[in-house]
Amino acid sequence: VNGKIEIPVVVNVLYRTTAENISLALIQSQIDVLNKDFNAQNTDYNQVPALFSGVKANVEISFVLDQVIRKSTTKSSWGTRDAMKKSKQGGLNPTSPTTKLNIWSCTIGGGILGYAQFPGGSSATDGVVIDANYFGVTSSSSSSYPYNLGRTASHEVGHWMNLRHIWGDATCGSDLVSDTPVHNTANYGVPAYPHYSTCSGTPVEMTMNYMDYTDDRGMYMFSLGQKSRIDAIFAVGGVRASFRL
Ligand code: ARG
Ligand code: ZN
Ligand code: CA
Repeated sequence: VNGKIEIPVVVNVLYRTTAENISLALIQSQIDVLNKDFNAQNTDYNQVPALFSGVKANVEISFVLDQVIRKSTTKSSWGTRDAMKKSKQGGLNPTSPTTKLNIWSCTIGGGILGYAQFPGGSSATDGVVIDANYFGVTSSSSSSYPYNLGRTASHEVGHWMNLRHIWGDATCGSDLVSDTPVHNTANYGVPAYPHYSTCSGTPVEMTMNYMDYTDDRGMYMFSLGQKSRIDAIFAVGGVRASFRL
């Protein structure tokens, strides 16, 4: 049903240093990762264990770079209270947020890689923020490693499309998706497979899901249940139905 959803992306670049003024090539590398990860075109998709091959999903949503807006700033970190989204606070207001996905690239600070607004919030702050150091694909010897493959954006855009953390932000919590196993908590690094949960039923955790907290090279799938949640958001009558235009 969402085979034809194509999301225009506006990238808002806030920079103080030249490194923060990320290149168009780096921006395009990020768009390419989103297109791969949301269309089962990522080269690691075939690494999904057989246990989960029946539920791995092609979300079938594509992204196209619409425009890049750049603004020089004297701020060295922007925090997580949306200042980067407000011209009055030195940031950049979103462009057409009901029909375009706005991504802000800036230094967030506090070790935060990125953050997102869930569907249903104010359009004035809608979109996702990615720390400039974790934007796009860089080399494995860069300071961005192990978050250098553009998966921070895949994770944050997952939130923007209504996906919860796979551990439900609680011990053995729920992500409101039935085909993802119950996880004890967030996983980091690249867990060896199989990694068992001690929650009821001791399922094998789906640590390779984009909505866990592993290293970029450790995450490479969405599930069919996650795809259903995303489809509902973009369906007629859904919270992001305006993106169907
Ligand atoms: N919201 C998470 C954070 O700020 C993003 C985690 C992204 N994970 C990744 N492998 N890129 O830390
Ligand atoms: Zn998250
Ligand atoms: Ca679940």
